[in-house]
Amino acid sequence: MEQQVAAARALVSSASRVLVLTGAGISTDSGIADFRGPNGVWTKNPEAEKTSHLRYYLDDPEVRRAAWRNRLTSPIWSARPNAGHLALVSLWESGRLDTVVTQNIDGLHLAAGLPPEVVVEIHGNAHSVVCWSCGETAPMERALDRVRSGEDDPACRSCDGILKSTTVSFGQQLDPSDLSRAAAAGARADLLLAVGSTLSVYPAADLVPTALRRKIPVVIVNAEPTEFDPYVDVVVRGSISSVLPEIVRGGRPLPGSSDPA
Ligand code: APR
Repeated sequence: MEQQVAAARALVSSASRVLVLTGAGISTDSGIADFRGPNGVWTKNPEAEKTSHLRYYLDDPEVRRAAWRNRLTSPIWSARPNAGHLALVSLWESGRLDTVVTQNIDGLHLAAGLPPEVVVEIHGNAHSVVCWSCGETAPMERALDRVRSGEDDPACRSCDGILKSTTVSFGQQLDPSDLSRAAAAGARADLLLAVGSTLSVYPAADLVPTALRRKIPVVIVNAEPTEFDPYVDVVVRGSISSVLPEIVRGGRPLPGSSDPA
């Protein structure tokens, strides 16, 4: 694997507009399970993937009650960024990170210190709730306090509508501004780094074929194979929180970057 890490580092250190696509694999070392890995949420409970569809959530109060119970005990609230998230902050400090498009809803890239203008949370995030009828939003913590006080499916205080986390469920439209920011980054990047994703969910995964069509270097860092492995420049099969710092290390900071070195 040493050879792949060195090859990946060589490509990343000579890029100046790196687009990073992250998936659940970058957050497992922060205590948040992924979906399709050996201990993934869908791996362990295929039924759960079905009921994570928007339709089930809106139509079935029992699905909502179960979702609120899961939110109460989610590891997201106590999770902290790990060395993988921090490696991307140092890539940004070197002036060579263009954008992180993340499929994750845990907010850990922002918590690690990346500015919002370089992060696209393309599947939303779990830290707020939105009323499906009137669109009013509120902090998730406030809704969880209502659940802790006994409301097992809290409704919107303004219009009594259904409250949903500001994540994007299957069957739900992605935010058009997120999609255009991700596409713009995909059109100007000079390297794509895909980290901790099976690259099996679209449109996020579209960033890989786009990069291949533009003939820019593509590096995949993932513990398990993806369908794109045979087509990319380098595949690093390793633990993200140990290999990602190695891959981004040593790139000379670009003039005007915020890197103190
Ligand atoms: N180091 C390296 N790879 C890891 C690590 C780790 N520490 N932990 C997990 N992985 C790998 C797993 O082997 C798996 O291949 O990360 C990948 C995570 O893939 P998925 O679980 O499919 O997660 P992701 O690709 O982000 O899923 C995309 O699917 O369910 C929806 O909306 C959800 O955003 C999610 C989307």
